[in-house]
Amino acid sequence: MQFQQELTRLLAGKTKIIGKKVLWLEETDSTNLVCRRMAAEGEAEGLAVLARAQSAGRGRRGRNFQSTKDLGMYLSVLLRPTQDMEVLNNLTAWVAVAVCSGVERACGVRPQIKWINDIILNGKKLGGILTELGLEPGTGKIDHIVVGIGLNVNHKLDDFQPELRDMATSLSLDVENCPSLPELAAHIIQALDEMYESFPHNRPEYLEQYRAGCITTGKPVQLITPASREEAESLYIDEEFRLVVRMPDGSERTVNAGEVSVRGMYGYL
Ligand code: BTN
Repeated sequence: MQFQQELTRLLAGKTKIIGKKVLWLEETDSTNLVCRRMAAEGEAEGLAVLARAQSAGRGRRGRNFQSTKDLGMYLSVLLRPTQDMEVLNNLTAWVAVAVCSGVERACGVRPQIKWINDIILNGKKLGGILTELGLEPGTGKIDHIVVGIGLNVNHKLDDFQPELRDMATSLSLDVENCPSLPELAAHIIQALDEMYESFPHNRPEYLEQYRAGCITTGKPVQLITPASREEAESLYIDEEFRLVVRMPDGSERTVNAGEVSVRGMYGYL
């Protein structure tokens, strides 16, 4: 309750859509699931749900997202955008830029982005984004989108599972002035609200910031699918926030989704 009061105070009058309503729960299964359930009951867009702990925090590709009480910021936002799928495909990349801006405003250090949406600090994973789509039954039209953001904040090294210790970091480990969870959440929610107001017309600015912050380009990478691992060299982020790579035979390939390992990171040597 204290967190919720503090966040409500920090956000008062500062956002137009995202964060007009906030819920900070003691514990839940997953803040993304809370948003999805509330969306099904007709909740308006802009709701931000946070939790001190998640018992079933979810990451991309069905992975678990470790969500120990008060160590991380676990935030989900409910959106009901009206644009077509083609335009909405870029939304997660815009969110990544907004998260970096929010962290920078909260603690003076700007993280980087590992394509598509890992948030990186000093070469290690600070957090990630899980975007989920809800379709209207029957029509198949987009009913809502839930954007879930998890950031490591108060972790000491021992708080990470042993297999993550070389790959993960937290704000308290890496920045001088680690913000409180409500301060951090307020800055991120404000940056998300600004982003949503600019979406999609202000693409040049977000594309430029995405490109400037993306650590994936210009490096040897591995393209990972369930069936294969292919070596490539990453070249640039195109106008649609896709990753363009050069394959060993010299051909160029545009990668839309999926997992890309960057050499030198997360144990890929
Ligand atoms: C990833 O890096 O794979 C994405 C992690 C996303 C985690 C956040 S925490 C808040 C929201 N609720 C969830 O269950 N997942 C997202």
